[in-house]
Amino acid sequence: MTPERLKPPERLRLGVNIDHVATIRNARGGDHPDPVRAAQVVSMAGGDGITVHLREDRRHIRDDDLLRVQHATGLPLNLEMAATDEMVEIALRHMPHAACIVPERREERTTEGGLDAAGQHNRLAPIVSRLADAGIRVSLFIAPEPRQVEAAMRLGAPVVEFHTGEYAHACQEPEGGENVAVELRRLADMAALAVKNGIEPHAGHGLTYENVQPVAAIPQLRELNIGHYLIGEAIFTGLEDAVVRMRRLMDDAR
Ligand code: PXP
Repeated sequence: MTPERLKPPERLRLGVNIDHVATIRNARGGDHPDPVRAAQVVSMAGGDGITVHLREDRRHIRDDDLLRVQHATGLPLNLEMAATDEMVEIALRHMPHAACIVPERREERTTEGGLDAAGQHNRLAPIVSRLADAGIRVSLFIAPEPRQVEAAMRLGAPVVEFHTGEYAHACQEPEGGENVAVELRRLADMAALAVKNGIEPHAGHGLTYENVQPVAAIPQLRELNIGHYLIGEAIFTGLEDAVVRMRRLMDDAR
């Protein structure tokens, strides 16, 4: 690790998803712990962006959090959102730095798979254009598959975020070695394909201290978005420590 290699733009950005601070707050219905305070700690600790997912059922982040979080730090806000008219209107009102379009099913516990950008071209095209025309950086949360990257190209998305859930899952299998290698190869190949076609690749979902480094080592990736694990670790060691530690693991992997 030489200082040059960590200079922007080579540095891999860390977007911290603070949804689950709101999950804990909402468990009691009050205002503690406040996601705004989490955003401020992330900023102090060296996070590069704040990510929030405003879900249809508002189970964690709520509408009033958006504005408060957006103004809590100087960090860019990445709004994860379903491809619905309601969410597009909210994004256009708030003008986050980036909007990551994710698939959303009410009954799922988390975003379980990637967006079918290939199968939903006609539905996504006007949404991508409206957000992009307003100056919001649009990202599509997709599986690391050629047809999805090609669909993102056709839609004119400047960014894709690869769903690392399959990789994270493989890492947990007792004999997961082979599947881990397969998933890493898919991520690396698709990151290269994205860059070749002028798309900036990001990745996220299920990343932990144990599994982040092989993903962070993929040179084309520009950003990782990590949430649940960091908030979980924060319970034991504090959010600042968790962000600093993740940041260091990512830097060391480059
Ligand atoms: N990126 C996107 C697009 C997501 O939807 C999520 C989960 O909300 C994440 C990253 C973060 O995943 P995790 O909470 O498992 O770190």
